[in-house]
Amino acid sequence: ASQETFAIRGDIVWSRHASNLQWAKDGYLVVVDGVCKGVFQELPAEYEGIDVRDRTGRLVIPGMTDIHVHAPQYAFRGLGMDLELLEWLNTHTFPEEKKYADLSYADRAYSIFADDMLHSPTTRAVVFGTLHVEPTELLMDKLEATGLKTFVGKVNMDRNSPDYLCEKDAQASLADTVRWLDEVESKGYVNTKPILTPRFTPTCTDELMEGLGRLKQERGLPLQSHLSENLSEIDWVHGLAPWSSCYGQTYEHAGQMDGEGHVVMAHCNYSTDEEIAIMKKHGVFVATCPQSNMQLSSGIAPIRRYLVEGMNVGLGTDVAGGASLSMFRAVADLVGCSKLRWRLVDQNLKPLSTAEAFYVATVGGGSFFGKVGSFEEGYEADILVLDDSQIRTTLECDPSERVERYMYLAEEGGRMVEKYVAGRLVVRDDRLVGSKAPAAVLTSAAANTTVS
Ligand code: GUN
Ligand code: ZN
Repeated sequence: ASQETFAIRGDIVWSRHASNLQWAKDGYLVVVDGVCKGVFQELPAEYEGIDVRDRTGRLVIPGMTDIHVHAPQYAFRGLGMDLELLEWLNTHTFPEEKKYADLSYADRAYSIFADDMLHSPTTRAVVFGTLHVEPTELLMDKLEATGLKTFVGKVNMDRNSPDYLCEKDAQASLADTVRWLDEVESKGYVNTKPILTPRFTPTCTDELMEGLGRLKQERGLPLQSHLSENLSEIDWVHGLAPWSSCYGQTYEHAGQMDGEGHVVMAHCNYSTDEEIAIMKKHGVFVATCPQSNMQLSSGIAPIRRYLVEGMNVGLGTDVAGGASLSMFRAVADLVGCSKLRWRLVDQNLKPLSTAEAFYVATVGGGSFFGKVGSFEEGYEADILVLDDSQIRTTLECDPSERVERYMYLAEEGGRMVEKYVAGRLVVRDDRLVGSKAPAAVLTSAAANTTVS
């Protein structure tokens, strides 16, 4: 049997629908060739003899998808959290991203990012690099080696940016993008895929926007950008594109919402009815980033509305607009922000429950990658095994209540025992596995072949 065929025994919690969590106390999650066969209270006879990994008492949940994160901003996370977006970009972000022109700086910074991402609750991520080609390839090499599955973008920006972080013109930007795409293809990555990444409308000329729209359609590529994050930014876009009736139309008009690849737009805090209609028409994913929206005073996204409209919604950390890579913290922040929105803005739209925020963080964003984020049959087996024994309490909780508390209290002593991506073990903390643990200490995917 392959390494990716096994059953995990433990307290299993997952989403089927957004509304509530499914759970099985002391159940079995069966995985065959990296794909979930379902969760069972007793191991079905047809799986007799399967490699059972006994994690009795541990929580077993789906991996999280961080659907919007900036790798080059990780170094300055936690700084500049008292500025608003445009000032923050000029003061902290652009000067830091310039440093990635230096491959040795990029190597050091991206090593830390990839390692911390590996040990976070995230199994999948949609990532911004910088405008630099080779440093972005280096980031992809490092993420590939973690075993996490990611989309990574070389950023495009050819106007309204400081000279030290601005491509010469649209043609130069497009030529670099094509060169990057061709080089990435020749590398034959298994886990890491390219995604087109116009930074946002203010830093991209019309010619560049249209060129990227054509490239998206020709090559069937996905695309990521920012949309309606901050009020000054939105005013700026209206000034730059007075013909447009909403910010979202600047992407649509350039052809960036057409073609096969999925599109993800970060924030969407102020999307109008028209912008929402455009996103719905093209099946655009909203990447909501609650921590960033608070830190940069950007606003509070109407996530309940997007869910009611049946839109695709995923959750992002937006590091370093957000300070933390923790998707658990992002879940708690999403619930909190939805409560503020309810009290202050939309009294008729209920806040999100923790179960709904968990759904957005797992199935919601996971859908950008296909059938990802659940343990229902047919989903790729992205799994976190968690130890909550240090989150001490006298309360008797069922597994779903323990997961709910874990989202809020992870930093109080929650520990990750193992992480699997599509059935493949990428992290194991042997101290936490228990007496049945194999002797080998596993810290990265490179050692995966030694695990039974
Ligand atoms: N808009 C354009 N660039 C950025 C960025 O790096 N972070 C955030 N949060 N918004 C942006
Ligand atoms: Zn962002």
